[in-house]
Amino acid sequence: MAFPIHRLRRMRFSENLRRMVRETHLSIDDLIYPMFVVPGEKIKQPITSMPDNFHFSIDFLLKELQEVRDLGIPGILLFGLPEKKDQFGSEAYDSGGIIQRAVRAIKEQFQDLLVITDICMCEYTSHGHCGIIKNGCVDNDHTLDFLSQIAVSHVEAGADMVAPSDMMDGRIAAIRSALDAKGLTHIPIMSYAAKYASSFYGPFREAAESSPQFGDRRSYQMDAANAQEAIRECAFDLEEGADILMVKPALSYLDIIYRVKSKFQMPVAAYNVSGEYSMLKAAAKNGWVDGTKTMMEMLTSIKRAGADIILTYFAKEAAQALGVK
Ligand code: PBG
Repeated sequence: MAFPIHRLRRMRFSENLRRMVRETHLSIDDLIYPMFVVPGEKIKQPITSMPDNFHFSIDFLLKELQEVRDLGIPGILLFGLPEKKDQFGSEAYDSGGIIQRAVRAIKEQFQDLLVITDICMCEYTSHGHCGIIKNGCVDNDHTLDFLSQIAVSHVEAGADMVAPSDMMDGRIAAIRSALDAKGLTHIPIMSYAAKYASSFYGPFREAAESSPQFGDRRSYQMDAANAQEAIRECAFDLEEGADILMVKPALSYLDIIYRVKSKFQMPVAAYNVSGEYSMLKAAAKNGWVDGTKTMMEMLTSIKRAGADIILTYFAKEAAQALGVK
């Protein structure tokens, strides 16, 4: 016997009561802020496809990080744009590369900020693919050596965690053993485990100048229609040594976040990607939705689906909305 004995609306009338029975709490602790670093000095260049996000030179990045840290955001994910791209993405694993220099500078000033680096080749290769090309195709096993070198060079520069986003098979095992061989056994790997071939990366590719110059990424990133395959990707990555499993994108993949969390009970990260960000920004700018409220609803839904960690370009805005700690 439900109604009229039970009335679910009783619990909804007062804000204080709503606060008490709320099931999901978004926190500043959950947020990772992805940022873009470029060569040069005194650069804070707006990224047109991603309002309120910028290309920073290292000096200006450090200034921005003061603000990020003061907001209580625990970690950042760094992407770099190299001076020069080539076929083998040489700057990606150069100890004098943009990320390596940026990480060293950050760590000198902000020891307590978690610095995570994205491990991939697409920003660094002239062809824009996430690996080494052989016979017109991304060569999986050859790429593993390069990814391992990138990871080691980032960690040697001071990165606290690495996040491989390339989607080659076997990269977690390769990176883990390369780090371990250098005595870097304490460095965790956040694997972009279930990363889909998604149109929602559009604004990022403009920001990172990483669009593939031929073909697309469907031979390595996952098909949007698949869910069971995401479980297999995660299972292999865990076996290979992943510490955190990431699902990407987030909003069209909330079911995947839920499945991965339920299945593995491991720390799960979700990447609220550029397209998800920019769509909301555009709608809010037009006055079609309330930007702040819609942002909080989106981020809460990602948490409710099972994510422990949310990578989002909204990190600063969300931290402001959640209140300074
Ligand atoms: C690199 C990488 C991409 C993103 C994160 N790392 C782009 C891609 O795979 O094409 C996308 C992030 C975003 O859209 O916010 N492989």
